[in-house]
Amino acid sequence: MSSEEQGYFTEDNSAEVVISRNADAKDARVAEVMGAITRHLHAAVKEIEPTQEEWFEAIQFLTKVGHASDDWRQEFILLSDSLGVSMLVDAINNRKPSGASESTVLGPFHVADAPELPMGSDICLDQKGEPMLVKGRIVGIDGAPISGAKIDVWQANDEGFYDVQQKGLQPDFNLRGVFRTGDDGTYHFKGVKPKCYPIPDDGPVGKLLETLGRHPFRPAHLHYILEADGFETLITHIFDPDDPYIHTDAVFGVKESLLAKFKRVEDPEDIAEAGFDGPFFEVVHDFVLAPTS
Ligand code: BEZ
Ligand code: FE
Repeated sequence: MSSEEQGYFTEDNSAEVVISRNADAKDARVAEVMGAITRHLHAAVKEIEPTQEEWFEAIQFLTKVGHASDDWRQEFILLSDSLGVSMLVDAINNRKPSGASESTVLGPFHVADAPELPMGSDICLDQKGEPMLVKGRIVGIDGAPISGAKIDVWQANDEGFYDVQQKGLQPDFNLRGVFRTGDDGTYHFKGVKPKCYPIPDDGPVGKLLETLGRHPFRPAHLHYILEADGFETLITHIFDPDDPYIHTDAVFGVKESLLAKFKRVEDPEDIAEAGFDGPFFEVVHDFVLAPTS
């Protein structure tokens, strides 16, 4: 129906009248997206029946989200994360074939130019925290090792902060590194046992979570980006299943297949073999990459 045929705006036909105005849109995808958003937004407003004051409060909330955002802090992404929208977009865009490792959110703390390190290196540059050895294999769906896979890892320290959140306090590139697999597809590196931490919660999103009776914590995890020729890039984490927040991640990033046991190793022979001078945590996790289609 044309915009004129829709007639004047009423409470009943509100969404249809607005959407019909887009009939001459220059970009069909934008018109499709705005059509869906308009339909669902009007339906939500009809369900909520906000007062004028409540609607203004919603506008003020979004204004604060905008004001809290800059090149370093992206409050809209935190909003998307904490509403589960980031994970939904991730799920839609990363439907993997059976057997392939699952993806999860990238998060805001990835640094593009972390140093490439020899396999086995310790990514902890300040000797703080409980030592950890992480190892595993990068394989294809057929189980064959992937040679030359790039493994980009980063993690928070034992206080739950990334180096970029504590510039001057932590060394640059602390707890980050890039590794490349050899012919056997294996990887191993040292770090420190990660801890749960809150997503940045000193802005409007943190306030919203508090109002909703929600905590801002993410369970302890390690981040990975895995890249190899002929395979889909995998952005993912591994999580500590014993973390107190494992079932209530503030950004809904946990998947069962991404749980990895953090085993405490105390045997002196194992300690010596791993090159530590005391007990350490061992994490073994393999990743299966999906082929590019
Ligand atoms: C993270 O895991 O680094 C993260 C993800 C989403 C929001 C904040 C932090
Ligand atoms: Fe993280």
